[in-house]
Amino acid sequence: MENDSTFIAEVYNPDPKVWEKIKADILEMEHEAFGDKAFTDEEMEGDFLNKKNTIVILKCNDKVIGFSYARSLDEADEPGRESEINETVYLWNTVIANKYRGRHLVGKLAETLEDELRRKGYSYMESYAVVKNNFAANIAKHYGDRVVKSEPKETGYGRQMYFRIRL
Ligand SMILES: CC(C)(COP(=O)(O)OP(=O)(O)OC[C@H]1O[C@@H](n2cnc3c(N)ncnc32)[C@H](O)[C@@H]1OP(=O)(O)O)[C@@H](O)C(=O)NCCC(=O)NCCS
Repeated sequence: MENDSTFIAEVYNPDPKVWEKIKADILEMEHEAFGDKAFTDEEMEGDFLNKKNTIVILKCNDKVIGFSYARSLDEADEPGRESEINETVYLWNTVIANKYRGRHLVGKLAETLEDELRRKGYSYMESYAVVKNNFAANIAKHYGDRVVKSEPKETGYGRQMYFRIRL
């Protein structure tokens, strides 16, 4: 079994050449995690080639075994929030490959993502977290008083918790 130092979280800057190398691992993890609710391959590719997104990947040797990314607020979907675009992001999608779950690796991904978001000048991230697999409870516990707002919400992914978190 690998020890912690084998796992490296790094910022991925959207780039078609790099995407071609990591694409198979990322798409496989997305399908494995969400089945028929997974984002389509085209949606994932769009996100991984969009320079407005902030993306972190977790590597074990040369294989990508996790990812987490944030999207900027969408002007079209969020009328009235234009002034927040440089302040707030959506934490959009986080996955650890099945065989590596339960080893606290999500914390490593999140730390690197949050450092990069702060470096870019953002102050808040918003997220809808699944309740069923304890992700929402883990977020509430981990972020503590950095959670400035939270509320339950019924979504296509079942019951989720909305969080607004101070970076
Ligand atoms: C959700 C998922 C990413 C969690 O990854 P994981 O590394 O297996 O999670 P773990 O159970 O090992 O780690 C949870 C621990 O990390 C802690 N943690 C640290 N930073 C955290 C963060 N930013 N967010 C959540 N938990 C965090 C938790 O508090 C928890 O601590 P505890 O075990 O002491 O209670 C993973 O289960 C997964 O990919 N699931 C399928 C996809 C999915 O549901 N994604 C979330 C969409 S909302």
